[in-house]
Amino acid sequence: MTLELGVLISGRGSNLAAILQAIDCGTLDARVRLVLSSRVDAPGLEKARLARVPSVTVDPRAHSDRMSFEQAMVDELRRAGCEWVVLAGFLRILGREFLEAFPSRILNIHPSLLPAFPGLDAQGQALASGVTETGCTVHVVDERIDHGPILGQRAVPIRPDDTRDALADRILACEHALLVETLASIARGELVVPGRVSERP
Ligand code: GRF
Repeated sequence: MTLELGVLISGRGSNLAAILQAIDCGTLDARVRLVLSSRVDAPGLEKARLARVPSVTVDPRAHSDRMSFEQAMVDELRRAGCEWVVLAGFLRILGREFLEAFPSRILNIHPSLLPAFPGLDAQGQALASGVTETGCTVHVVDERIDHGPILGQRAVPIRPDDTRDALADRILACEHALLVETLASIARGELVVPGRVSERP
């Protein structure tokens, strides 16, 4: 099946770019129906424009509360025909109303081997903790931060002389591959996302 994607961003959008490139190359059977940014100045919006993908900014500051902000996002995503939502560097916590609008169809990419190092600066957390390995995770989003059924992980060794930025760059390269591979497996029907019934006969 072709995945009809809404990609949520707040910043750089390199994971968005990886998705767009994989679709372009034919390695991912998906369509980015909408790129939704929480920031009007997110550099990822330019990547959407260059790829001629529809994009919109939903600014939380323009809404009086979280429910109204999330309803505005749901309306945009539904209007665009999105069936799956990918959080690709989206820096807002999502509440129950948003999660229930796309049950078990919201995926997140996080730069650690969850459940280790959830939250901000996962790469710095890993480095400071002294572990010798970290990585990245794609998971289904639930009501807790960086939590929910894990769909895929990839390990990245930490080098003795690593800096936070060097480590973050190596993890990011793995994120791009893992996110595309996970989405492609779902599209091929090889990976059944927990909590939803496969559409395959
Ligand atoms: C990535 O490290 C992702 O794991 C995290 O936010 C970062 C987004 O990077 N959730 P980009 O905007 O996709 O380049």
